[in-house]
Amino acid sequence: MPTTSALPPGVPATHQAVATSGLRAPLQIIDVPTEAPGHGHVLIHVSWTSSSPLELHQADGGLLVQQHPYILGGSFAGTVVSLGPKDPTAPAAPRDRLQPGDQVFGFAFRHDREKGFQTYITTPQRSVSKLPPNLTPQQAVTVSTNLVTAMHTLTTDLGLQLPWPVPGDWSATNKITPTILVWGAASSVGLYALQVLRYWGYNRGVIAVASSRHHEELKRLGAAACADYQTAGVVEKTLGLADDINVDESKQPKIPLILDCIGSRDGSLRPITKIAEPRSKVAIMLPVINTYSSSDKESLPEYEMDVSRVLSGEWKKGVELKGTRTHFYEKNEFFKFHLQPDIIPALLESGAIEPNKQRIIEGTTLLERAQKALDLLRDRAPSGEKLVWRVADDGNIDDTQV
Ligand SMILES: NC(=O)c1ccc[n+]([C@@H]2O[C@H](COP(=O)([O-])OP(=O)(O)OC[C@H]3O[C@@H](n4cnc5c(N)ncnc54)[C@H](OP(=O)(O)O)[C@@H]3O)[C@@H](O)[C@H]2O)c1
Repeated sequence: MPTTSALPPGVPATHQAVATSGLRAPLQIIDVPTEAPGHGHVLIHVSWTSSSPLELHQADGGLLVQQHPYILGGSFAGTVVSLGPKDPTAPAAPRDRLQPGDQVFGFAFRHDREKGFQTYITTPQRSVSKLPPNLTPQQAVTVSTNLVTAMHTLTTDLGLQLPWPVPGDWSATNKITPTILVWGAASSVGLYALQVLRYWGYNRGVIAVASSRHHEELKRLGAAACADYQTAGVVEKTLGLADDINVDESKQPKIPLILDCIGSRDGSLRPITKIAEPRSKVAIMLPVINTYSSSDKESLPEYEMDVSRVLSGEWKKGVELKGTRTHFYEKNEFFKFHLQPDIIPALLESGAIEPNKQRIIEGTTLLERAQKALDLLRDRAPSGEKLVWRVADDGNIDDTQV
């Protein structure tokens, strides 16, 4: 990133970041340089973040981690401090979209300087959404990572169209309402996927699989029918629901589109092998988890990034498996420049998409909050909610809540 601006007065030359210290070892705080924003970038003072299973996969399993310390975090909410010069290659997002003092949020992951678990980030302006007036920063940090994931997966891996802006005659012209299974619909990814499917009018065929305590809420968010993965017979129940939804019972495959929001070899993929038929497309959140992380220090988690190596003898011939990699969502040029700047704030402001419920993680230090959240992820405690915690409490920049 060519740096062509200087740090504004009052911004420290270094700041705190939460990083791994080794595989399955306690997290640590490191001091890292605060980077002035180059072309098309923005410097943000980070007030809130949220934890995702990816950080557990990285900290305990070393997933895609080259070396320690490794700075964590994919989501952020905070205050714009300063802007770099306009990116001459960006077709959209004019420089004056953002101003110092704006409350913003987003999903960024490419470089250390962009990671959300630090008090200042320097990130591309296209990875930043302005906070709509109806949202708090605590709500906003639950959104971007997994709303981007849901929209990327439904388009890139499952081939659905999500035109933007939605044409006025979309509901009349879009007659395609395939049966879609969302397995793990109470996960953060699943909750956003349901709402995206509802907004674009695909919800008539959506079957949601989650614990029964969530079913009422999942129907409110757009599921047509629900099954409980914790009860015996979930596979038969799901196939029966598909028969109820399909007017034409001879339709093959019964469930053409399957979104596995969990990616657990034994918990989601094995039952899905019994549901998917030839020509079913199955999008799987990577990594596939062969063994979950646990508080038993002797056992390390095991992951697999190649879906073709998982349960290979158990899939019916002709099932199409896709491993989801949201970190490549910018290959879609329209999403690259519009998803975070325009589409996400508009969906939130209109109420089309609701943020996940938040569980606020308290702690007297940045490290304590980060570690507590990681420990809760290891215990697989989140259920229909996102772990949200305060990042900067140094008060250098006015980041009071809106
Ligand atoms: N590759 C990518 O692009 C990408 C992007 C985003 C996320 N991911 C991965 O996707 C996974 C989910 O992420 P997340 O943030 O959405 O997780 P999350 O919200 O923390 O997931 C927790 C939920 O998982 C549900 N669950 C657990 N085991 C299940 C099973 N066997 N069947 C159905 N539901 C089950 C639980 O449902 P109940 O409450 O109903 O029990 C719980 O609500 C993680 O491994 C993450 O790393 C990958």
